[in-house]
Amino acid sequence: MLVLGLKGSPRKKGNSDYLLGLFLQEAEKRGWETQVVDAAKEGFAPCIGCGNCERKGVCSIADDMPEKFFALVRRADVVVVSVPTYFYGVPAKIKALMDRTQTLWSRKYIFKLKDPGHDFRKGVLMAVGATHGKDLFDGIHLNVKYFLDAAGAKLEESLCYRGMEGRGDMEKHPSVRADMLSLVETILSPFEKRKTWLFACRENAGRSQMSAAFARSLAGDRIQVISAGSQPVDKINPLAVEAMAEKGIDMAFLTPVSLDAALENSRPDLLVTMGCGEACPFIPGCKMVDWDLPDPAGRDLDGVRAIRDEIEKKVKELLNL
Ligand SMILES: Cc1cc2nc3c(=O)[nH]c(=O)nc-3n(C[C@H](O)[C@H](O)[C@H](O)COP(=O)(O)O)c2cc1C
Repeated sequence: MLVLGLKGSPRKKGNSDYLLGLFLQEAEKRGWETQVVDAAKEGFAPCIGCGNCERKGVCSIADDMPEKFFALVRRADVVVVSVPTYFYGVPAKIKALMDRTQTLWSRKYIFKLKDPGHDFRKGVLMAVGATHGKDLFDGIHLNVKYFLDAAGAKLEESLCYRGMEGRGDMEKHPSVRADMLSLVETILSPFEKRKTWLFACRENAGRSQMSAAFARSLAGDRIQVISAGSQPVDKINPLAVEAMAEKGIDMAFLTPVSLDAALENSRPDLLVTMGCGEACPFIPGCKMVDWDLPDPAGRDLDGVRAIRDEIEKKVKELLNL
């Protein structure tokens, strides 16, 4: 289970940074994996409005945004955006990151592709501002809500503090720790109650990725689904992405994960293996199922489609659909 934190302030050790740190610390104590994208540090180039993503589903700007942000957001269960107020909006560099998410918006609303995580991924807004006005966070709230929607997450909760100006103000707030504990419990505990299914193959490039995408898509928030490989490769199989897109499911930007990394942060109740051979793990107390499925690597699109259809059938059987 992954919490992705988006750090919006260019100020080091500032107030919003403190809030994000508290959330992530509590998540880690509960056994969650955490990752942070620091927008000011990454400095992704802003959207140039060229329309490439609306025509082709990918951004024309050739930087590492897809690997550094899209790949993480698509793997995340919870996305926490933590920002200071800058002129009733968010700072420029996190706004640039948000605008670049137009690629995910286009894939969702123009290409009608479903990100399998969107039925359960939760979003959280944490914001601070120096003044006290009633409408201080209105702009940020709308901005973050629609950004999260494009990123495949629903804004569930927000925690905003007025009157926070100097570095260190947030730390002195009398209820911040209690507020955070309650927020973390509300957001994370429903995930922790779910059964976890792990789909594993060798490269985590085709079979296990397609299985996990179908399972996520069909099970929604009933089951925590992960996938991994005993010998993960760098990129997932583009033909698997194409074959799944024909079914309306978006696997773009997903990256292979190693079994060791997957098992570090999760205790599966069900392990479905499909050709990870000798390296398939034995997990005490975990039910194991082995699927006899050919490897899509090296096959043409028709070959991959046949495996995809077989996987869809098997996942539906597993879910009793
Ligand atoms: C460029 C800039 C614009 C700001 N605009 C606002 C504003 O519109 N309203 C407000 O209440 N505070 C504003 N502030 C104050 C910050 O929101 C406040 O100091 C906040 O605690 C900074 O958070 P940080 O420590 O996470 O960076 C602004 C600060 C800066 C540097």
